Amino acid sequence: MRPVWLLALVSAAVLAEQPTPQRQQELIDLLKHDCGSCHGLPPKGGLGPSLMPEALANKTDAFLLEVIQKGKAGSAMPPWQQFLSLEETAWLVQQLRQEGWK
Ligand code: HEC
Repeated sequence: MRPVWLLALVSAAVLAEQPTPQRQQELIDLLKHDCGSCHGLPPKGGLGPSLMPEALANKTDAFLLEVIQKGKAGSAMPPWQQFLSLEETAWLVQQLRQEGWK
């Protein structure tokens, strides 16, 4: 498992990079359909906890990147690293923080 500090460095570096507009649409669709099936839509919580901006306010980008990429062992949260690059995951985290899934 990559250490969290490494993810933090990578996330800072990739935040400047944006997925293409078409990929952004695909990512929002994934967020609504796949993530939404457990976290709700709006993602106020369901099987998984709330992903609303207030709920994420005190969580670091590095933590959120790590959970989304690797999943949470022993819980229903699956790893998404096969489907989402670090860059795309960082972009999704920013959308969640800004309610960009709307
Ligand atoms: C099959 C159900 C399921 C799906 C699909 C799912 N999650 Fe989760 N998620 C969970 C559960 C359950 C947890 C709580 C894990 C724990 O800490 O015990 C979680 C935790 C998280 C957390 C950490 C939240 C926190 O406050 O600790 C984030 C961020 C997250 N999920 C994002 C996502 C994203 C983004 C997607 C879609 C790409 C997604 N999840 C898809 C079930 C799911």
